Amino acid sequence: MTPRLELRRVSKTYRNGAQPVEVLHEVSLALAPGTVTAVVGRSGCGKTTLLNLAGAMDFPSGGEVLIDGRPTSSLSEAELTALRRRRVGFVFQFFQLLPTLTVLENVELPLLLAGRARGPEQARDRLGWVGLEHKAGSMPYQLSGGEMQRVSIARALVHSPDLLLADEPTGNLDTASGDQVLALLRASAERFGATVLLATHSAEAAAIAGARVHLRDGRIERIE
Ligand SMILES: Nc1ncnc2c1ncn2[C@@H]1O[C@H](COP(=O)(O)OP(=O)(O)OP(=O)(O)O)[C@@H](O)[C@H]1O
Ligand SMILES: [Mg+2]
Repeated sequence: MTPRLELRRVSKTYRNGAQPVEVLHEVSLALAPGTVTAVVGRSGCGKTTLLNLAGAMDFPSGGEVLIDGRPTSSLSEAELTALRRRRVGFVFQFFQLLPTLTVLENVELPLLLAGRARGPEQARDRLGWVGLEHKAGSMPYQLSGGEMQRVSIARALVHSPDLLLADEPTGNLDTASGDQVLALLRASAERFGATVLLATHSAEAAAIAGARVHLRDGRIERIE
């Protein structure tokens, strides 16, 4: 079976400073559809960089990132836009909800951008799935942090993405809200068949994954 996401000896060098800095070095990974994988390691080891490459938000300096067997570097601008809007969902540490839109509008936004019909219906369905249908008309500032993160999961899942990338999704949550969010991420793989890649410092978050990739200074130290 073709992995949903594959990294082949991926290296990344940032060149915006005085000296080029290599932050990922020959990282290789293959993630099967419907699996949950955690990337763990201390601050600065390259977790966010890896997620950005995996979501085709950025490109490797060496090696290849393949989504369903296609290298992201080979895609046209239009194909990249379509990929990011239709196939990939992102969940961030600071939720990134738009403050002037209602909860429902926030969840619907990716569908609007992708020009899909049935937006409100599907957005309501996903809100129901994260247990927040009753907050559809609320504004983000009226929600708790845990609720905001559940809304952002609903938004990330609204277009049924193949790949769900979550960067420190429980970093700003208390344990109970964090547990709810983790359960939803795991269920995203089970229910929606999403391939989930999660970057985290938290041992609890890493524990929901089928595999843990330990990064150290941009290299894979071990996978367990
Ligand atoms: N756009 C950029 N330009 C230059 N250097 C960068 C850029 N983004 C990240 N870096 C550097 O690359 C290294 C890895 O950063 P990255 O954000 O991937 O780490 P991380 O593992 O996500 O850390 P944290 O746990 O703190 O979120 C760091 O040294 C960082 O300073
Ligand atoms: Mg990070």
